[in-house]
Amino acid sequence: MRALSFLFLTLCLPAWGQNRIGTGAVEALYRQHCMSCHGENLTGGLGASLLDPSAWEVVGKRSGFIEYVQAGDSETGMPSFGESLSVPEIRSLQIYIDEMRQKSDRAAGLSTVVKAGEIYSAGGYRFRLEPVITGLTLPWSINFLSSTQALITERQGQLRFWSEGQLSQPIAGTPEVATRGQGGLLEVAAHPNYSENGWIYLGYSAAAASDSNYSMTKIVRGRVVDQRWQDEEVIFEVPAELHRSSGVHFGTRFVFQDGYLYFSIGDRGAQDQAQDLTRPNGKIHRIHDDGRVPRDNPFVETADAYPSIWTYGNRNAQGLDAHPETGVIFESEHGPRGGDEINRIQRGRNYGWPVITYGMNYNGKPITGQTAAPGMEQPLHYWTPSIAVCGIDFYEGDQFPAWKHNLFAGGLASQELHRLVITENSVVSDEVILQGEGRVRDVATGPDGYLYLVLNGPDRVVRLVPIQE
Ligand code: HEC
Repeated sequence: MRALSFLFLTLCLPAWGQNRIGTGAVEALYRQHCMSCHGENLTGGLGASLLDPSAWEVVGKRSGFIEYVQAGDSETGMPSFGESLSVPEIRSLQIYIDEMRQKSDRAAGLSTVVKAGEIYSAGGYRFRLEPVITGLTLPWSINFLSSTQALITERQGQLRFWSEGQLSQPIAGTPEVATRGQGGLLEVAAHPNYSENGWIYLGYSAAAASDSNYSMTKIVRGRVVDQRWQDEEVIFEVPAELHRSSGVHFGTRFVFQDGYLYFSIGDRGAQDQAQDLTRPNGKIHRIHDDGRVPRDNPFVETADAYPSIWTYGNRNAQGLDAHPETGVIFESEHGPRGGDEINRIQRGRNYGWPVITYGMNYNGKPITGQTAAPGMEQPLHYWTPSIAVCGIDFYEGDQFPAWKHNLFAGGLASQELHRLVITENSVVSDEVILQGEGRVRDVATGPDGYLYLVLNGPDRVVRLVPIQE
């Protein structure tokens, strides 16, 4: 068996994903200022190859990238750019170099995913993908009720049961959802005491009553009786004036813990509002499972702050899960280009978006040169280039014993599944374990111990099944 487990693999993107890599304003910036010496493909010329940072003599050893490019090096002939380029521009060039390095590794066949026929070899196992549910359109979230029953949302607004291998018709009477852009019916989760109380929670984008062009994340709970949605109660909604007209960044993942419901709302395309405590967007929230705001939330005493806020500066949290042993909540944050993150969510903290980020704009224009600042949390892990991170899950099954409590993270554009080995305060390794099977929207451990993936394009649910040797 190859030693695949502990490679630090962030360099791996398939040609079919992330079509922005190496393009846009930052490419023009490179061509204008750096290409004459470092070459069209960054392989070097008058200057060093930029594809192999381990060979660099100064950067990463005696100096940071930004400081080095600003100051130059008169001994070797590397010009100084402190006058001609801003710090954010130099930072965007650093992201571009990371992107181009990955592109070149891919072209050289340095793919990390080992697949022979239908069998993957990764993380110390050989496994295959087994189709479980088909006939879905844009499935977004899966939540198991038992080993033979699960709830599934489809973004266009349908909630379905999957029961004894059969997919139900859409449940009648579920709320109307605003389906523009990335919006729609998003998250579903059964209450931890579902078997007694029957509560099912739905998170979705709801139109403002006053103007259907505006929408925001809303949460309701209800029961399903005879294939009908009943007893609906509103758990969370925001006043009409706080809705947004954009169709992006809804977040909307749930974690239940100790009687509380934690959930995410993305910045809704208004990045600066992620730092604004009067706004609900760009935040992780905490409420009681019946919707009341806990009196010990961190900003209940702060004038005009939105009282359910638990953390802020979160761009678009598309994955949330609690560590099975410590209970610490982990968040995947779909970042700008080059700025996807994994964060540990802690009471009242500021996660920095958009003041600090490891990414730049999708069009290759810089956002900021700052990746760290006092009072702002560093991600536990980040991906430059981005994988377009989405759903996450701590594996709790017993079909892959060596993966117990590893964090699995799905990528949309990258079509990857990453296995992160996590200790209390760090990510020890990041391994791509499968690739190219579709956009990975959600990840969940099934009660049968298999690892389930919700995939878009082709739309289906599959599970990873180990090959018994
Ligand atoms: C006039 C030629 C020239 C231009 C233009 C130029 N460089 Fe360089 N660069 C060099 C030379 C020469 C070196 C040193 C090469 C060596 O040691 O092998 C270098 C080295 C580097 C290194 C490696 C530093 C190390 O620690 O060894 C980086 C990173 C770098 N340049 C980035 C850039 C960036 C980014 C730009 C555009 C903003 C740029 N360079 C533009 C000539 C140039």
